[in-house]
Amino acid sequence: MRVINLKDKQSASEHVATEIVKLIISKPNLVLGLATGGTMINLYQYLVDLINANNLDLKDVVTFNLDEYVGLSSEDKRSYHEYMQERLFKYNDSWNDNNIHIPNGVGPNLQVEAFNYENQLEQCGPIDLQLLGIGENGHIGFNEPGTPFNSQTRVVNLTPSTIQANSKHFDDINDVPIQAVSMGLSSIMRANHIILLAFGENKINAVKRLLQGDVSPELPASILHQHKNVDVYVDDVIYNKLK
Ligand code: GLP
Repeated sequence: MRVINLKDKQSASEHVATEIVKLIISKPNLVLGLATGGTMINLYQYLVDLINANNLDLKDVVTFNLDEYVGLSSEDKRSYHEYMQERLFKYNDSWNDNNIHIPNGVGPNLQVEAFNYENQLEQCGPIDLQLLGIGENGHIGFNEPGTPFNSQTRVVNLTPSTIQANSKHFDDINDVPIQAVSMGLSSIMRANHIILLAFGENKINAVKRLLQGDVSPELPASILHQHKNVDVYVDDVIYNKLK
């Protein structure tokens, strides 16, 4: 696991966006694992600008998002479907809807849909590059503490601390869904390359535990120590606390 400090969120996001663009240029049918959350916002802004500046054709790029809230439809402003539209997909017409995969959070049988999502991932994969944020409790995707390392895409229960942390994106904490559909830890680990981004005060503890603690399901992100190709991008705020 490599730890890279590029000073701040802006520089790290610009750097990673540039890496993604280079990958798309060298492999137009890149399989990209996408994440959401506040951490990714700058990265997608840079990515949109670079995609358009380089006139990239994205029709063969395949994307898989990590997760979606249960109970929020794809049109719901607070869903991760809408997040991806608003932050990335709507800015370039060459994205191919057939190649964009985001778990469905609404329907009568989400377990079956989750199972099918995992199968699609198997068929289209492996993911060339998986982006990850990290929850304050060390979750990746919505794989909460205690998640088995062999988990696959499924419906998960969110912990009170995640509901609290994510309530900043909702008007009222009671509006935050209590479940999500999430790729599992083993789904994530199949990616060839993983980039985890973590910035700011709120993530110091999770990153410290990741880099200095045990490999244990109690810190789901710690599974990444068992992967050969992981880059963790942090900012000065976190880096200075690691010494
Ligand atoms: C959510 C997402 C995670 C994300 C995390 C951190 O729980 N499921 O994929 O990494 O939040 O979010 P933020 O970047 O807003 O801190």
